[in-house]
Amino acid sequence: MVLMESLARRSILNLNKYVQGTTFEQVKKQYNLDNITKLSSNENPHGPSERAFKAIEEHSKNVSVYPDGSYQDLKERLSKLNNLDVNNIVLGNGSDELIKLLLAAFLNPGEKVITADITFSVYKHACTMMDGEIVKVPLKNFTHDLNGILDAITPNTKMIFICNPNNPTGTIVTHEQVQSFLDKLPSEVIVVFDEAYCEYVSSPNFPNTLEFIRQGYPVVSLRTFSKLYGLAGLRVGYGFAPKEVVDIIEKVRVPFNVNLIGYKAALASLDDTFHTKFSIKENNNGKVYLKNELEKLGLEVEPTEANFLLINVKGDDLKVTEELIKRGVIVRSGSHLGIKGYIRVTIGRREDNERLVEALSKINFQF
Ligand SMILES: Cc1ncc(COP(=O)(O)O)c(C=O)c1O
Repeated sequence: MVLMESLARRSILNLNKYVQGTTFEQVKKQYNLDNITKLSSNENPHGPSERAFKAIEEHSKNVSVYPDGSYQDLKERLSKLNNLDVNNIVLGNGSDELIKLLLAAFLNPGEKVITADITFSVYKHACTMMDGEIVKVPLKNFTHDLNGILDAITPNTKMIFICNPNNPTGTIVTHEQVQSFLDKLPSEVIVVFDEAYCEYVSSPNFPNTLEFIRQGYPVVSLRTFSKLYGLAGLRVGYGFAPKEVVDIIEKVRVPFNVNLIGYKAALASLDDTFHTKFSIKENNNGKVYLKNELEKLGLEVEPTEANFLLINVKGDDLKVTEELIKRGVIVRSGSHLGIKGYIRVTIGRREDNERLVEALSKINFQF
C-alpha cells in the first residue's frame, strides 16, 4: 500500500493528535477506583441547569429530524441578551469549531497568527492545519503582553488570538488596555477574544468586547455553553463578530454543525439565571477556600479570574499529577500545558475542593 503520509496534506504532518486530560474511565480502570473527582477540564462541577435537562428529555423525541439549521431561536435569545443583531452571531460545535472556522475562512497559506506562548492549544493546531504560521509572544507576569503583540505584527499577520481569561494562567487584559491596543492595530488584522470563561470574571475592568464590535472594530468574541452552562458534552459554542465576518464564516460552516439536543439545551439554560448565579458564587467561594487551604500546605496559588487555578508545586508536576490521580483526583499537569512546575485545577464543589486539599496534604513533595 502507498505510504499514507505521502498522501496527507503536508501542513498537517507535524501535527500531534489532541491529547485529552486523563478521563474517568482511565482512572477507574488503572486504579480500580469508583469515586473520582475530575478537576482537569474546567467544566461546571454543578452540571447544567434543570431546565437544560428538561429540554434534553423533551427534544430527544425529535432526533430523527434535522434541527433548524439557522438556529434562529437561540440566535434571537443571544441577540436580545447581548444587544447585538442576529447577523452578528455564529454558532459552532463548541467554540473549538469556531476557532477552526475562523482560520478556514480567513487564513491564506503562509499568513501569520499571533498568540501568547502559554495559552489554549487549539489556536496553534487550527492555524497549522490551515498552512498558517504561528507567532508566539511570551506572557508577561502570566498575562498577555499586548505591546509585545503589537510589536510582533507584520504585513503578513492575519489574526490575533487573545484568550481572556487566559487558559491556563487565569489572568485577564483590561478594557482600557484593549481599547489602546485596538486603536494601534492595523485595520487588516482580526482580533479574536476567546472568552470561554468570561462569566466567571469578577474584575470590573474586564473588556466589553461586544461594545468594540458595536463600534466597528474587527473584533470577534468567542463564548461557550461548555463551561458556566455545564453543557461541555453537548458541544455548543457561539461567537459575536461584525456581520461581514459572520457572513464569511458562514461560507465554511457545515450545515447543522450544532446538534438538536445541544441547541435546545443551550437555549433552555439561558433562562436559568438562578443556576448560573449559584455556580458563579460557589466558584468564588471555592477560590477563596482553595487559596487559604493550599497556602497552609506551603503551596503558591496564582490569582485567577476563571473557574480554575494554577498551583505552583515547586517540583515535578507530572509526579504530583500522578500522585493525585492515584488518590482519585484528576488534575492537569503544567508540563502538558507548557508551564512546568505547576498544576492546573478546576475549582470544584466544596467536597471536591476538600478532597483535593486532603490528597495534596498526603503527598510528599520531595520528588
Ligand atoms: C480557552 C478555551 N477556549 C475554548 C475552549 C473550547 O470550548 P468548547 O467546549 O466550547 O469547544 C476551551 C475548553 O477548554 C478553552 O479552555
